[in-house]
Amino acid sequence: MAGAARARTLTRIRASEHEEAPMATDTLSVTDNRTGSEYEVPIVDGSIRATELRRIKVDEDDFGLMSYDPAFLNTASCRSAITFIDGDAGILRYRGYPIEQLAEESTYLETAYLLLFGELPTSGQLAEWADEITHHTFVHESMKRLMEAFRYDAHPMGMLVSSVAALSTFYPEAAQVGDPENRLLQAKRLIAKVPTLAAWAYRHSRGLPYVYPDNDLSFTANFLSMLFRMAEPRYAADPALERALEVLFVLHADHEQNCSASAMRSIGSSRVDPYSALAGAAAALYGPLHGGANEAVLRMLAEIGDVRRVPAYVERVKEGDFRLMGFGHRVYKNYDPRARIIKETADAVFAVTGRSPLLDVALELERIALEDEYFVSRKLYPNVDFYSGLIYEALGLPTAMFPVLFAIPRTAGWLAQWLEGVDDPEQKIARPRQVYVGEDERDYTPVRDRGALVPA
Ligand code: CMC
Repeated sequence: MAGAARARTLTRIRASEHEEAPMATDTLSVTDNRTGSEYEVPIVDGSIRATELRRIKVDEDDFGLMSYDPAFLNTASCRSAITFIDGDAGILRYRGYPIEQLAEESTYLETAYLLLFGELPTSGQLAEWADEITHHTFVHESMKRLMEAFRYDAHPMGMLVSSVAALSTFYPEAAQVGDPENRLLQAKRLIAKVPTLAAWAYRHSRGLPYVYPDNDLSFTANFLSMLFRMAEPRYAADPALERALEVLFVLHADHEQNCSASAMRSIGSSRVDPYSALAGAAAALYGPLHGGANEAVLRMLAEIGDVRRVPAYVERVKEGDFRLMGFGHRVYKNYDPRARIIKETADAVFAVTGRSPLLDVALELERIALEDEYFVSRKLYPNVDFYSGLIYEALGLPTAMFPVLFAIPRTAGWLAQWLEGVDDPEQKIARPRQVYVGEDERDYTPVRDRGALVPA
């Protein structure tokens, strides 16, 4: 090791040119025991900049230290002012407003406005916003033909992901992501059109004619109409069900840097149009460990089928045969506040539709799991997906539609995250590093010289 590198050095590293120098105590002192060098790294908002580790080198040719963080367990990828979660305390807030208050008082469209613009709208702003969204609900007739081309049993989430991506071809100007007005127009279109595509995916799976939007209805009433209207001139949704859907949509609208939100930001960081980015985010949501969990929960409850079979099922979970779907969360190490509200909403829905026989299985599963050392010690609590599926089922929707019902409101969150990301001067194209563990350089051998294939 070079003598100079071994010498003790004190490197003062500024977090960013834009930030003020932190107080003397807001620093982290690092000693590199390989060299004996010391570094002082600023701590801002409880974080250090990973790029500052690059200053830590054994010699000038060294690439510099990296942090290795598979699945981003402890890496903040952005500074965000949208959603706050305190996972230990079970707190969720959108733009500072507690989720409980929004679920009680707000509507999905108002919440979407809040997420996108940062403030609750005045009554005039809300009326204008609702009017604009309502007048973007129709899609081009070619979209209808495109959706009709799917096989009769196509998964509605696959149809949604594909049709959202296809929307980009109808709005080529959406590629101009540098233009704020253009960005906002596409955001309105997406919030308005995703429910239409979602409802049509359902109608397709049922072999029913697609229902056009009804612009005289509220956002959720219109969605229910596009799902369920048959020959009647106007579909009249039960107000209790309309409100329950509104609450579910508010609860699902955003959840900070989850898998699909980071997919949205990551894809959006390439400056692709928002339809393409949102299709990628929806694809991330589709997975059973994310938004697909609500579908998996219902399958699990149906498989258990009877409260008497719950203890045996829990034992198999503990033995590692499979996971208890709808339980556990990367961030919440407490009861997911959304699950608590959804449980109450379920009661309101069941009062109209009748009680799901699987509710007893779910309640017993929760009761046993919350007392069991395996779940208690790992802080595994019901998450948002545990009870939502029971409501969707009570509304008469098939399990395959559940992740689609998650994607509709999450569209607002994805767009808020995307808008914040593309406007953030600190953001660049997302491009993680890797720790290469493969072969070192070796010479190519022509196939004729590689010998016969030896069976494994
Ligand atoms: N059932 C049984 N054990 C579990 C579960 C579960 N649902 N979740 C986590 N564990 C165990 C896991 O086996 C591990 O145990 P050990 O320490 O002995 O190896 C420990 O708890 C920690 O698990 P992890 O995999 O490190 O936790 P994670 O933060 O990576 O995973 C999760 C979070 C949500 C993917 C996971 O809890 C899970 O798979 N849950 C079931 C799927 C689900 O309900 N997903 C919806 C999430 S909320 C809505 C959304 O994001 O869309």
